Amino acid sequence: MKTTKQFLGVILASTLAFSAAPVLAAPSLDDPLVAQGKVLFETDAGDMGCAICHGMEAEGSSEMGGVFIQGARMAQIQNAVNGAVPVMTFFDLSADELQAIEAYLDYLWEVNG
Ligand code: HEC
Repeated sequence: MKTTKQFLGVILASTLAFSAAPVLAAPSLDDPLVAQGKVLFETDAGDMGCAICHGMEAEGSSEMGGVFIQGARMAQIQNAVNGAVPVMTFFDLSADELQAIEAYLDYLWEVNG
């Protein structure tokens, strides 16, 4: 009997752990940082946004040459706006704004992946 109780306890504990973890880990539009990143990405960054060249879902745009950037990390984003991509150097984004955009690109990676 004792073993059965322990066994059930383990099952219950792991079920709770598995059901709670994704809620905490997955980026969501309910996260203010992700929501801010969405607005910046779609329209507001440099009064232009990133989507015009990279596509609404950051999937890349053959017309404008912006590549697939879902899930891009901060180093890649900074590198691009700091000179690696000349058409992107007009952006003057604060560290907070860059972080929000990174969070949104991470979200797009999660929901599309
Ligand atoms: C005027 C068009 C344009 C806009 C607007 C633009 N990009 Fe880009 N971006 C490009 C192009 C073109 C490339 C690809 C350059 C290459 O690799 O030849 C690129 C590349 C990148 C890369 C590099 C990907 C890699 O492989 O490392 C990142 C990251 C990126 N852009 C993020 C952004 C973000 C974030 C924004 C908005 C703040 C933005 N871009 C806005 C045109 C644009």
